[in-house]
Amino acid sequence: MKKAYIETYGCQMNVNDTEVIFSILAGEGYERTESMEEADLVMANTCSVRDNAEQRIWGRIEQFNLQRKRRPGVVVGIVGCMAERLKDKLLDTRKVDLVVGPDAYRSLPRLLRAITPDQPQIDVLLSRDETYADITPVRTDKNGVSAFISIMRGCNNVCSYCVVPYTRGAERSRDAHSIVREACDVFQKGYKEVTLLGQNVDSYLWKTADETVNFAELLRRVASVSPELRVRFATSHPKDISDEVIETMAAYDNICKHIHLPVQSGSSRMLEKMRRKYDREWYLERVAKIRSVMPDCGLTTDVIAGFCSETEEDHAATMSLMEEVGFDWAFMFAYSERPGTLAARNYPDDVPPEVKTRRLNEIIDLQNRKSLESYRRDIGKRFTVLVEGPSKRNPDDLCGRASNSKMCVFPGGGHRTGEYVDVQVVDCTSATLICQLIETT
Ligand code: SAH
Ligand code: SF4
Ligand code: F3S
Repeated sequence: MKKAYIETYGCQMNVNDTEVIFSILAGEGYERTESMEEADLVMANTCSVRDNAEQRIWGRIEQFNLQRKRRPGVVVGIVGCMAERLKDKLLDTRKVDLVVGPDAYRSLPRLLRAITPDQPQIDVLLSRDETYADITPVRTDKNGVSAFISIMRGCNNVCSYCVVPYTRGAERSRDAHSIVREACDVFQKGYKEVTLLGQNVDSYLWKTADETVNFAELLRRVASVSPELRVRFATSHPKDISDEVIETMAAYDNICKHIHLPVQSGSSRMLEKMRRKYDREWYLERVAKIRSVMPDCGLTTDVIAGFCSETEEDHAATMSLMEEVGFDWAFMFAYSERPGTLAARNYPDDVPPEVKTRRLNEIIDLQNRKSLESYRRDIGKRFTVLVEGPSKRNPDDLCGRASNSKMCVFPGGGHRTGEYVDVQVVDCTSATLICQLIETT
């Protein structure tokens, strides 16, 4: 058996893609290893979303190249979004043997066979219909409890700051039956939670001559696999999240009450420039709708600080929106110009770095305070938690998430990974609920 080592960067979709790649490589006689030193094939599944993501990966490419020098015959590959963005420029560095884009993983066997020391191989063709629907991913999660299922690929939005439509190609939805089959399959293997993945899950749409499945219908079908199987999903787009989806979530106990709803900015002027296709009022209305149907729904977001021409007033609008909504947590970023995007072509990246950093820090400080407030509000509440494993801090404790996605830590009490347990929150930090078991008799 040959051995393959893959490091994964970027979003959860990449995590799932790595699992698809391992499955394709298994057909070629490669088994997975977690040690780069013993691997015959060393790869990075990469992310281009921000410049610092790419810089980090460049550092790893140097390390991989050392392996190649030390152990002749080792193949180094760059796959994923950076492969798609930089294409043969990556080969020019002479540090890699293989460059494969997100829609070309089926070519891996052919490319691997064709590689020689002076013949690197590349396939970065994007596809209109590739969804890897028939490939059973080799699960790489540590606990066997929670599995990712990609339901669509690519993105048809053109948010002006974003490189994803260029690295992942056009949006396409995967065969609904293959998604439900995969959910059944992981449930039979003992998994208790699936997370349905897409850049914009609300625009999921799968049509045949006699069937049309939208995201709400897909949720119903996956939730019907078993009441013991929890269903999560990401990412929702504020312009597309429908009342039907919100009501479907409310109708099924096993659809977790958590929505990741990236706002990006609280200023309608910035949102327009970002081409998000909603404004502040629309976003707040969606939040109000979610909370009216599911008062306890967890809400999280992504925020970008210092987008092109952002003023102090725009920044204040982001802060006031965050204050008003009170997200449980957020991913917060300084705007990073990505070559080729609409923003890079049309708007100067004119917010000085020190201003971006200051605004980002203000956003982070505000969110830390709001997170603590949100976690404190849960003290005294009871939750059903799906046990994911021992807590990192104290191996005698267990951890797992409540429906609203907040991490809970509690004394083990003989419970095991993959069980559902009832807990009561007794204390918290800004990122963890500290709980006691509720003894059921
Ligand atoms: N499809 C998702 C987001 C995918 S990218 C959505 O539409 O919300 C994940 C996050 O990275 C984005 O939500 C955004 O906050 C951030 N991001 C994307 N491009 C960026 C850029 N050029 N600079 C800084 N942050 C960026
Ligand atoms: Fe990027 Fe916008 Fe698509 Fe999200 S919806 S991946 S931010 S273009
Ligand atoms: Fe990064 Fe590509 Fe995901 S750019 S965020 S790995 S879709």
